[in-house]
Order: sequence, then structure tokens, then C-alpha cells
Amino acid sequence: MFEITPSTTTGAAGTLEHYHSLTSQLTALTAGEPDIIANLANISAVLFEHIDNINWLGFYIMKHGELVLGPFQGKVACVRIPVGQGVCGTAVATGAVQRVENVHEFAGHIACDSASESELVLPIKYQGEVVAVLDIDSPNLNRFSKLDQQGFELMLPLLESLNWHSIWKPHAE
Ligand code: SME
Repeated sequence: MFEITPSTTTGAAGTLEHYHSLTSQLTALTAGEPDIIANLANISAVLFEHIDNINWLGFYIMKHGELVLGPFQGKVACVRIPVGQGVCGTAVATGAVQRVENVHEFAGHIACDSASESELVLPIKYQGEVVAVLDIDSPNLNRFSKLDQQGFELMLPLLESLNWHSIWKPHAE
């Protein structure tokens, strides 16, 4: 059984070394497995367990022109998010990482879990288009520093190398 424990993860929580270590272990965990839903599910489980002070972590996947809830850890969440709405839809519309220190000050923020205070959303690109986002919520204000953003960005090459082609339905029909 593949195991990721504090003893197999190096670097103190929140350091780039820790994010590097998690990225290496996620690469090993997903290597050779073509099923993207299984891989996203395991990635969300690992990250939710090994990142401090978060209350929700998961994926929204572009399907027919809108974001649809994918594998995640945390409380029940809204299922569909239009492009351009909320923090997640803004990440798709702009193609840029959204690091929100206080979600209550973000116009249009969609509150799924009322405990969330800050949020980090990373767009995941495939063939030049945003196919999904990784959304991380925290119950603490200003939880995500620039260093945390850089740490999660280390995971993007792995996330973008997953088998998106198997589920790619980005456009409206
Ligand atoms: N807060 C997000 C919605 C998703 S939940 O946080 C899980 C947003 O504004 O897009």
C-alpha cells in the first residue's frame, strides 16, 4: 500500500521543500495510472491530509462551458460554477491564479462552506486552455502566502500531465 506520512514527507509544513516533497510523492502515487478521476481523488486526499489549516480542497472540471464539481475533500459543495463567477470562475476567465486573503472582500465569491475565510485557486491548463481548477479553502484569514502559491504551482506540471484528454469537454455544445 502506498503510504504518505510525515516521515516520508520532508520539509516543515508550508516550506517550499514540503511542497516539493508532496509533489514528488504525488508523482509517484499517480505514475502509471491512466484514470484521471482516480488520480484527482487520491491527490485531493493526500493534499487535504498534509496541508495545514484548510477546510476544503478539490477540483472543478470544465464541462460544456462551465465548471462542474470533481473529486474533493471537505463539506458538500456547489456543483456548477459559471465561468467568470466566484473565485473559481474568475481563475478560468483570467487563466491566472487567484490568491484571496479575505473571501468576504472578493466580489462574487461563492460561499460553499461558511467556515471559509481565504482561498487559493489554480487554473490547470491542457493544450493551452483551462480544463479544471484546483480550489483550496481555509478557515483562516490570509492563510495562503505567496510562498504557498509558489508551492502549489510546483504541482501544476504534474496536474497538467494527467489524462485530461479522456474527459475533455471544455466547450458548450
Ligand atoms: N468559493 C468558490 C466556490 C467553490 S467552494 O469554495 C468549494 C468560488 O467562489 O468560486
